[in-house]
Amino acid sequence: MKSSEIRRKFLKFFEERGHVIVPSSSLVPDDPSVLLTTAGMQQFKRYYTGEADAMKDFGSKSTVSIQKSFRTSDIDEVGDERHLTFFEMMGNFSFGGYFKEEAITYAFDFITKEMGLLISYVTVFQGSPSTPKNPSTGSGNTEQASSGNNIPKDTESKGIWESLGVKDVREEGMDDVFWGPTGSSGPCGPTTEIYCKNGAGQDIEVWNIVFNEFFCTGSREELLAGRAELKPLPTKGIDTGMGLERLAMCAQKTKTIFETDLFGGFLKKEPISGVTERVRRIVLDHARAIAFLISDGVEPSNKGAGYILRRLVRRAMVYEYLVNQIEFKLPIVFTAVHETYARWYPELSKEEILNIFEGEKERFLISLEQGLKELKKFEKVDVKSAFFLFQSFGIPYEVIKELGGERTIHLKREDFEKEFEEHQEISRAGLEKKFGGHGLILDTGELKAGDVEELRNATRLHTTTHLLQQALRDVLGDSVHQMGSDVTSERTRFDFSFARKLTSDEIGRVEKIVNKKIEENLPVGCVEMSKEEAERSGALHFFKEKYPDKVKVYYVGETLLDAYSKEFCGGPHVGRTEEIGRVKISKEEAVASGVRRMRVVLTKDAEFRS
Ligand code: ALA
Repeated sequence: MKSSEIRRKFLKFFEERGHVIVPSSSLVPDDPSVLLTTAGMQQFKRYYTGEADAMKDFGSKSTVSIQKSFRTSDIDEVGDERHLTFFEMMGNFSFGGYFKEEAITYAFDFITKEMGLLISYVTVFQGSPSTPKNPSTGSGNTEQASSGNNIPKDTESKGIWESLGVKDVREEGMDDVFWGPTGSSGPCGPTTEIYCKNGAGQDIEVWNIVFNEFFCTGSREELLAGRAELKPLPTKGIDTGMGLERLAMCAQKTKTIFETDLFGGFLKKEPISGVTERVRRIVLDHARAIAFLISDGVEPSNKGAGYILRRLVRRAMVYEYLVNQIEFKLPIVFTAVHETYARWYPELSKEEILNIFEGEKERFLISLEQGLKELKKFEKVDVKSAFFLFQSFGIPYEVIKELGGERTIHLKREDFEKEFEEHQEISRAGLEKKFGGHGLILDTGELKAGDVEELRNATRLHTTTHLLQQALRDVLGDSVHQMGSDVTSERTRFDFSFARKLTSDEIGRVEKIVNKKIEENLPVGCVEMSKEEAERSGALHFFKEKYPDKVKVYYVGETLLDAYSKEFCGGPHVGRTEEIGRVKISKEEAVASGVRRMRVVLTKDAEFRS
């Protein structure tokens, strides 16, 4: 059975049973507490909490959808037979309408009669704390019990399955058969899952049927730790999710989701020499995810959804680069994704996908080669070296782990993420540590200050000087170079090469860019590297100066690679640009033929945390 047939059957089956077909919502949800849409129920959250009325909005208490979904939680599993980042989730929903009996019977009928599949087994909720085997002596898990969230065992679902002739009903706990909440709070409840066989004879979970009964006051982690409360949900209901790719794998009797018709057209089926099957699957998964994320307006960045996209693009590109086989040319894969899905998702724009991908590629390729060379040098890749590779060359964790092979055995994702957070703290803490104390007279050659307050202002203006140089190049072109600079606590004076007087419009634009970069609150980082490497990174430097073999490069941005400004420099700088406050260009004049001078002052107090 083709996947298009599965789609049609699913929607029709539920439509015939009073469900209104609702189109997929965007991968970027309205709910600010979640980065991306991870489930079909997300667009319907408000119908369970009582904030919205399904009868009013849909004219029915039941809906059905095929939802674009994305889960980072499975990213390390991608490459096996059944895990994906992006997938399509088929679901039927009831908001205060039908409940367990109908939900289970619909699912049973759809799987066995419409799809003609056998159910291997199902799971039901065992109760939490888990129901004691001998109620007279057992007391369950007292820690969880003390949180007050006692949820009874789901004997009703077990009975319904048995009455339908499903004999293998397994009881499981909170980890497996309790759904939600998504985000910082929301509807949740026990679930029952259906397992069917794929083409390799493995039992695969295909359908998760959630009985939304509770409103959880906190996140899932808080709930599991006993720190959130469960309250009765205003509108109880049903939320189900069935991965289209997994169901297709069972229906089409393939061993992996990548052999279903949903991926069929993307790449040649035969193994490509030198490429492991795992790599091929990762590229297929990521290419599809990239295409859908871009089409829902996500752009590569270092924050939130943009950062997820960037990691996917870079990982896929690294493989394309290393494998260098025609089949792995990503634009070909994107074209195939577009051909397979544009029918269902008209928002997919081939041009946009390719444009954004190419833009990101250009930036990344510059440092990829260098980063891979560095990676080779490490005998053991620990969390510090991994972070160095990420920070300096933009090599994502997944790629380091993959390419480092044996040498990354002890590298753990949690540690890497902790390092990431700690780094942000350190760049904030830097200055007091370096120059702490009172009454210091500082003349680093770059700035002069008499006491801590002056030092702070001089430091603010020093970072301003870096932003200013880049902003001048943005507005006047790359022929602009630093000819000299002098920073005091009162002002920065910056001399640069340019042939004529600037117009007031140009001055306004430069000032605006600098203030915008300040408002973006970009971190300022520093890496030490050889002079040649630093030059290759594109860092600006003062041509008159003689530099030692090892130099420091200060950059404004999350990583050296994406930095707005990078310069050879001895510091000190603010930890984040917001600490500068606001600046004004107070003067622009000539100092010599072909050399202009700008004077910039601070105009707003800001908290200084560095
Ligand atoms: N919301 C449930 C899930 O995503 C159905 O598994």
